[in-house]
Amino acid sequence: MDKLEQIKIAAEREIKDASNLKSLEDLRIKYLGRSGELTMILRSLADMSLEEKKIVGPKAQALRMELDSMITEKNKKLSERKRSVLDVSRPGKKIKIGHLHPLSIVEKEIVDIFRSMSFSVIDGGPEVETEYYNFDALNIPKNHPAREMHDTFWLEKLGNKNERLLLRTHTSPMQIRYMETHKPPFQIIVPGRVFRYEATDASHEINFSQIECLMVGKDVNLSNFKFIIEEFFARLFKKKLTVRLRPSYFPFVEPGLEVDIQCVKCGGKGCNICKDSGWLEVMGAGMVHPNVLKAGGYDPREYQGFAFGVGPERIAMLKYNIPDIRMFYGGDLRFINQF
Ligand code: PHE
Repeated sequence: MDKLEQIKIAAEREIKDASNLKSLEDLRIKYLGRSGELTMILRSLADMSLEEKKIVGPKAQALRMELDSMITEKNKKLSERKRSVLDVSRPGKKIKIGHLHPLSIVEKEIVDIFRSMSFSVIDGGPEVETEYYNFDALNIPKNHPAREMHDTFWLEKLGNKNERLLLRTHTSPMQIRYMETHKPPFQIIVPGRVFRYEATDASHEINFSQIECLMVGKDVNLSNFKFIIEEFFARLFKKKLTVRLRPSYFPFVEPGLEVDIQCVKCGGKGCNICKDSGWLEVMGAGMVHPNVLKAGGYDPREYQGFAFGVGPERIAMLKYNIPDIRMFYGGDLRFINQF
């Protein structure tokens, strides 16, 4: 009985103190192994008298069970600890890192080019716009046929001053908003989201983006404009491209221009991208209309400027050879993950 008590005290302490699986296994062999200390006692039961057996037997069996479960418990604990320890030899897990959307990449590139030419980047402007900023102030009065160029999402709810609200059809309203609160001279670009209520196809989306540009000063003129955009396209497409200005009509500019660049794919020979014309239409532009300067709070006899609007989707499609504008917002990761 004394021997059993000794084994119990020693074994319990040693099992508790075992610091790794190897020493725990050694303890199991030491006490419960084939010639372990407790095993030997259990074996010696055979040589004992009946009385002795009755006393020692159950005690020894109980101790065997106790030690056995203590060792199992401890084993579990030690294995868990082993798993959580840093094992530098295990192969690493590849971490998935996100990346910019192709449109964000192009927008950032465009913005960076203008920033390097001392343009300020003006953020935002409301996407829910008033009829005044989207149309009236831009020299597009009510019932003017030019409004039909913009298929508009009108909102049912009226604004705070009971004015009609819409989803802005272009970023040009920011021309007025900026002029109202700033004094010339300045040169800004304003990236933003715009909306048109029209049928979608490979080159039309109801939701797309624009970057508006406005430069106003006492003698800002079309040569300045031409220089800026030639520089812009050369940097964007990383080669000198011929730029062509064609007369066009936008109510908020006079003269109004459509800007073409020499086809970035065929260089002007004619291909499927430029529909054999050799030219790509890339932006609407012009000299800011006197009525627009007035609406911005400026005297058109004192100040003049140019404005243009460019579509990052169109630029991205040309740059990356993307055949369908709907891919940008389609959410197909096989497309997005190529960038
Ligand atoms: N706002 C015009 C559009 O959406 C583009 C434009 C901007 C044209 C500035 C001239 C000047 O089509």
